[in-house]
Amino acid sequence: MEQIDKNGNLKHLLTLEGLSQTYLNKLMSLTDKFIDKNNRLRHTDDLKDKTVVNVFFEASTRTRTTFEIAAKRLSADVISVNVATAATAKGESLRDTILNLQAMQADLFVCRHGDSGAAHFIAKQVKPGVAVINAGDGCHEHPTQALLDLYTIRHVKKDFSNLTVAIVGDIAHSRVARSEILALKTMGVKHIRLVAPKTLLPAEIESSGVTCYNNMEEGIQGADVIIMLRLQKERMDQGLLPSLREYHHCYGLTAERLKLAKKDAIVMHPGPMDRGVEIDSIVADGPQSMILQQVHFGIAVRMAVMVELTAGK
Ligand code: NCD
Repeated sequence: MEQIDKNGNLKHLLTLEGLSQTYLNKLMSLTDKFIDKNNRLRHTDDLKDKTVVNVFFEASTRTRTTFEIAAKRLSADVISVNVATAATAKGESLRDTILNLQAMQADLFVCRHGDSGAAHFIAKQVKPGVAVINAGDGCHEHPTQALLDLYTIRHVKKDFSNLTVAIVGDIAHSRVARSEILALKTMGVKHIRLVAPKTLLPAEIESSGVTCYNNMEEGIQGADVIIMLRLQKERMDQGLLPSLREYHHCYGLTAERLKLAKKDAIVMHPGPMDRGVEIDSIVADGPQSMILQQVHFGIAVRMAVMVELTAGK
């Protein structure tokens, strides 16, 4: 599915693949416009008379709510379809559900689905001028999460080129990691480390220019940014881990381990966190944690993406 039109404008945001550094910088500059000097989110009329429909087929708190708030901040009409009680639960096809919502004059769909490729499928069904944002499709991608992570890193570190970024945890099942690797590479991050047990690393991933570590201490040594990921137990169909206690023992981010990273390293997490498994509370709530700041920036980043997708339509 081609997400860029022949004039170079973004029609949908389905993947970060193929978006240039210039384009990601443009989205980050646009994001700046939605945060005032007191670090408060602005309220604008950019999406006045537009209708945004959130269609989430998977559990979500942060992503769905921040998209909803972002749309409201832009003065859009926004509805979130309750999929548990939606007609798809009665057997209606995804295509019919989307076409019906489109007939209600939806201008922008924000979709999350358990199947990789679902957002691409939806983008193929909608008519020209209607935009689709992928808010997470299976193990595939989660572009706005990676964009808000980039924005958070840029906010603290200013420049990407000399950074060492460690992504730690269940990389194999993580759409966040997949989008993040694309985004960090595009921004010119030279040292991207993936830290996980072998069973949670996708095969052949090293050929994409990242370095894999099975040892947590080595993996976070001297890092500028540590991104912790949850174990996606709902996507594991076999015992990939001996036990959660063992996992914490080997890969949990404790205060002691954090000392191995640079003194000014920041800790990030897309949420939801499993405290005491991949991260200890003392770190999650500590001075190096950017976790709640990520959520805040997530609204502004989503405002920027929505404006970019609807501009001139
Ligand atoms: C992530 C997701 O759903 O992919 N969370 C999020 O969007 N903030 C990661 C996760 O579920 O662990």
